[in-house]
Amino acid sequence: MSTETQGVSPNPDALRAPLRRVMIVDDSEVDAELLRVRLHDQFPGLQEVCWVGDGTVVLERAEVFDPDLVITDYHMPGYDIIGTVSALRRRWPDLPVLVMSGLVGEEAAIQLLKAGASDFLPKSRAERLAMVIDRELLEAGARRNATQLRAALEREHSLYQAIVDEVQAGLWILSPQGLIERTNRHGAQMMGSAPTTALEDFAAIEGWWADSGQRIESHDWPGARAILVGERTAPRLMRVRNFAGEWRHFSCGAAPLRAGDGSSLGAVVSAVDLSAEVDLQDRLRQAEARLRQLSLNQSLQHERQMARVARDLHDNLGQVLSLLKLHLGSAARIDMPIARRQLEIDEALPLVDVALSRLREVCNELLPSELSDFGLFPALTSLCSAAARASGMTVSASEAGSPQAIEPALQLGLFRVAQQALTNALRHAGAGAVQVDLQWQAGEVSLTVSDNGIGFYPQAPRAPKQQGLRGMYERMELLGGALTVESSAGCGATICARLAIGGLP
Ligand SMILES: Nc1ncnc2c1ncn2[C@@H]1O[C@H](COP(=O)(O)OP(=O)(O)OP(=O)(O)O)[C@@H](O)[C@H]1O
Ligand SMILES: [Mg+2]
Repeated sequence: MSTETQGVSPNPDALRAPLRRVMIVDDSEVDAELLRVRLHDQFPGLQEVCWVGDGTVVLERAEVFDPDLVITDYHMPGYDIIGTVSALRRRWPDLPVLVMSGLVGEEAAIQLLKAGASDFLPKSRAERLAMVIDRELLEAGARRNATQLRAALEREHSLYQAIVDEVQAGLWILSPQGLIERTNRHGAQMMGSAPTTALEDFAAIEGWWADSGQRIESHDWPGARAILVGERTAPRLMRVRNFAGEWRHFSCGAAPLRAGDGSSLGAVVSAVDLSAEVDLQDRLRQAEARLRQLSLNQSLQHERQMARVARDLHDNLGQVLSLLKLHLGSAARIDMPIARRQLEIDEALPLVDVALSRLREVCNELLPSELSDFGLFPALTSLCSAAARASGMTVSASEAGSPQAIEPALQLGLFRVAQQALTNALRHAGAGAVQVDLQWQAGEVSLTVSDNGIGFYPQAPRAPKQQGLRGMYERMELLGGALTVESSAGCGATICARLAIGGLP
């Protein structure tokens, strides 16, 4: 009951519980007094002896007196000795309870010991009392010591587990034989299971090294290397399918654990879940590749456009200029009659207008001046008028919502989509009417080009030289927007480009 002995010592004397307070339960005051004298004689450290003559109050008195030893009589009127001894034992598991009495049958003695009595001593053998008490104190001390050790061990265990659980990495502690002795909460989460140390569970786990793509052999897992070859493995990325069947990326390493004398204590395996990071990297790489592809496609489209402009310049403007040169050459000849020279000049003048108009067309194709001069909707209106003039179709434009200022690149992107969609409607749809709608909403602008022509199947595979629809999709993608094409045979086509307003991606 005393808690003074805290340390662990191999010396049995140090383990012996002290004897300072003894409770004597006996209905004979004379016997109790005799015993008290004897005890004081034989145990000089004894400070107090408490006599309890009434067997029914033993527990309450013990609660107050806090004895190091109880010596109880057996035969007392109204005394339930078995019940009292069991109650004492339950309340104070390490307290020695010695039964000292006159004659007691063997059966009763066995019952007493079963109830928790430490020993039984006949009153006739009182000379053995000191020896029996001494032994009981030693055993009680040892029991108490063991209890304290167990408590300390349990505390250490809980503390250790709490620390291990707090570590923001998966931890697996292996015995020198390679058995998993402990794991932590984080490790269990990573493995998609309740904490388990069952080796057979782990035997089912498959893994691949992320750098080489090679399967991880059973002897090559970091924990196995630490145990088998005593080798430390620096954290290395691996792809693992966990108990829940999820693919995860772990950065996993292990180190052998050694005692001060160099003997093996097993190993510790640690792993950090980098799945989210690896996933992000993959998506970043894919986005980069897509962006590279888009830029390449756009620059190819640009090259094609430049080639077309060069062809236009050569075939149209070049021809007109050559003709102009001929006329001006003739007009400059002094051997020509003046009337003929005048004629040549008259022929040349309209050609200058034609050349200027073609030059304007080419410039407009390269960068529509209305777009920068008047804005998106006026440029679209002018585009529609030109398309109507060229095709004889009804081409109308409408604008809804409150127009907002948008970046020139977004303006040009929408304009090019309208150009391409109109060209397609003119070339392929056989439509009677085409409608171009520009709609402004909070944070978004959308452009819709719809025709009432023959329609087509938007998902049909396209020849590489068919660049129109692909170009529209990619242009919108590059600008952080989206393009949708809705069409079916006989039902016309609707192309819609949407862009977020307020900044390019
Ligand atoms: N409005 C439309 N109505 C009917 N068919 C269409 C329409 N728009 C496109 N198509 C069909 O889709 C095909 C692909 O169009 P896309 O613009 O990609 O290429 P293209 O017009 O054939 O060639 P490019 O635009 O490269 O000069 C067209 O050839 C045509 O068959
Ligand atoms: Mg096209």
